[in-house]
Amino acid sequence: MTNERSSMKIVIIGGSGLIGSKLVTTLGEHGHQAVPASPNSGVNTLTGEGLAEVLEAASVVVDVSNSPSFEDAAVLEFFKTSTSNLLAYEATAGVGHHVALSIVGTDRLSDSGYMRAKVAQEKLIKESSIPYSIVRATQFFEFVNRIADSATDGNTVRLPPVRFQPMAADDVASAVCRVAIGSPLNGIVEVAGPELFRFDELIRLGLSARNDPREVIADPHARYFGTELSERSLVPGDAAQLGETHFEDWLSRSAKTISQTA
Ligand SMILES: NC(=O)c1ccc[n+]([C@@H]2O[C@H](COP(=O)([O-])OP(=O)(O)OC[C@H]3O[C@@H](n4cnc5c(N)ncnc54)[C@H](OP(=O)(O)O)[C@@H]3O)[C@@H](O)[C@H]2O)c1
Repeated sequence: MTNERSSMKIVIIGGSGLIGSKLVTTLGEHGHQAVPASPNSGVNTLTGEGLAEVLEAASVVVDVSNSPSFEDAAVLEFFKTSTSNLLAYEATAGVGHHVALSIVGTDRLSDSGYMRAKVAQEKLIKESSIPYSIVRATQFFEFVNRIADSATDGNTVRLPPVRFQPMAADDVASAVCRVAIGSPLNGIVEVAGPELFRFDELIRLGLSARNDPREVIADPHARYFGTELSERSLVPGDAAQLGETHFEDWLSRSAKTISQTA
């Protein structure tokens, strides 16, 4: 691990979420004081509630929060307001590194309200005075069902047959952990899964593993959260760091859990 520092207080905004909860565990295993912060623990980045207190003596803040609503205006408002508040409180507290989790291809997908909100979040971070690192990840394996639901009409799921390189949430958390305990990049790093798929093909595999009867149809004009995709919209550049977990292995480990919780 390069540039790793001795034990630091690291605040995880969204520390109760999918990635956040894994990150709290991983950072703790590396000997850091990982403090989860979210509305459930009295910290709200939209109102500022609890921020000054939780950021006291923090060296690093990792933002893995997410908007409760994906509606265009709501998600934009969430990422703009929460990021602005967070950065202002960090400046006052003397935080030395702001880390945020974003998405590969955000700047190529401006027809999507969610992606526009992530671009706005990234812009505020780049323009702030706080040293920063942005980790752009591809879609999580755990997100497959939500993607299918968003593309469902009756019994069919329409998705474009473009390149798709998703990754396990565990590998996302490991990548964010590496960045959080290193020196600020003042730039962007991309992370992705170890294998390249066709978008429709992977969703078909994911649904059939849980005996979901929906039919997946490859449709080049089908929209993904409001935007058309081109062949490389969702995949990273050559320098991306790749996770270790293969989709088939993840599926066989988690298919039972997914079918129980869906
Ligand atoms: N899904 C994907 O495939 C994908 C791919 C790449 C990047 N990402 C990014 O990954 C990030 C994390 O996603 P996730 O799926 O791990 O999220 P998640 O499980 O939905 O968790 C969201 C977290 O945000 C917290 N939160 C909500 N409102 C808040 C507020 N006002 N103040 C502070 N915290 C608040 C929640 O806290 P409570 O539990 O207290 O409500 C929860 O801890 C997102 O920014 C997303 O854009 C996602």
